[in-house]
Amino acid sequence: MLFDPEPKKDKKDFYNREAELQELLESIKREKFVVIQGIRRLGKSSLLNVALAESKHPFVRLDLREVYFTYGSVSKFHLYRALSQELSKLSRIHRFTSWLEKVRGVKIAGFEIQLDWREKGASLTDIFRAMDGWASARGEKVVIAIDEAQYLRLAGRTRYDGLLAWAIDNLGNLVFALTGSQVGVLQDFLGTEDPRAPLYGRHARIIELGRLSHEQAMDFLKEGFKEAGVKHPDLGEVVDALDGLIGWLTLYGYTYVSEGKAELDRFLKMAAKLAAEESKKILRWSDRYQTVLRAVAGGALKWSEIRERASVKLGPISKSDLTYLLDKLVRYGYLERLQNGSFVIPDPVIRYMATKF
Ligand SMILES: Nc1ncnc2c1ncn2[C@@H]1O[C@H](COP(=O)(O)OP(=O)(O)OP(=O)(O)O)[C@@H](O)[C@H]1O
Ligand SMILES: [Mg+2]
Repeated sequence: MLFDPEPKKDKKDFYNREAELQELLESIKREKFVVIQGIRRLGKSSLLNVALAESKHPFVRLDLREVYFTYGSVSKFHLYRALSQELSKLSRIHRFTSWLEKVRGVKIAGFEIQLDWREKGASLTDIFRAMDGWASARGEKVVIAIDEAQYLRLAGRTRYDGLLAWAIDNLGNLVFALTGSQVGVLQDFLGTEDPRAPLYGRHARIIELGRLSHEQAMDFLKEGFKEAGVKHPDLGEVVDALDGLIGWLTLYGYTYVSEGKAELDRFLKMAAKLAAEESKKILRWSDRYQTVLRAVAGGALKWSEIRERASVKLGPISKSDLTYLLDKLVRYGYLERLQNGSFVIPDPVIRYMATKF
């Protein structure tokens, strides 16, 4: 179903990302490191999932946002647990446990694979090496997919960027496919632009997801309503309001179809509440972020205008404080800095949230 609100897994539910899908499949075939990036709700996870299904390669897929939102952190313990589950799943499809048997800290019982996460337990280097050996023996590739990879920076003392760099250099049969919605945070974590970082200079294929055009958004909604067998309302103002973000369009369609109606203003309120909940968890939200966003929500604004507006509410605000707040909002994808130095809020729901809440 096009309006299914979960990330898509099956190509038949996946609307018109043919070029990006082919690019990703091609990268999985030919390269070792590919990164899908873009703000929230552009369809990164769906693209990744559909490509994994279409590519037919064995894969493990870690959803680190799910881990973060479930446990409030992404510790090494949680990371190992998620990987244990994925390896167990994979071992039910492919018999490869013999490759892991000899790895220190790996326990195997039937199809269940358990990784010892403690200091002297299983090392990811050994596990990746074993998977690479298995893949190489089959003349295959294995895809290590990490959704919302920026959370790896929180997972304990291990330098995961170093581990990735090592695996990319040494293990010819593994492909790493990462996504990230906090694009600035992901780039900092990967350090691909930082000469001191382990991943510096490694070639990463970047797939930048964009919005749907006005026509595509209209077409997507119409297709979705047709598939659901529901007569669609006038969609002009919905498409104008949701700005080509496929995630919000999907949620709108889903809400309309399940409730038999979805008045736009009520929908925006509901979506903004959802976005506010999420942002609280991500930014450990404070009034200051909210005030800065509200200052920007009115239109594309320069630094000095934002300072003026924000200080009405917050009192005098130092240059460095405002720079810190703006940088953080940009790194996490809540703001975008335009070429001319102005700031805008790229997500219409966040814009709504900033003005109304
Ligand atoms: N090509 C597509 N066809 C149909 N629905 C899609 C498509 N891409 C995304 N969606 C829908 O849009 C919503 C957001 O998609 P998805 O979770 O894949 O995006 P995302 O970029 O990973 O978002 P986030 O940054 O929040 O993780 C989901 O409801 C998903 O089902
Ligand atoms: Mg996602």
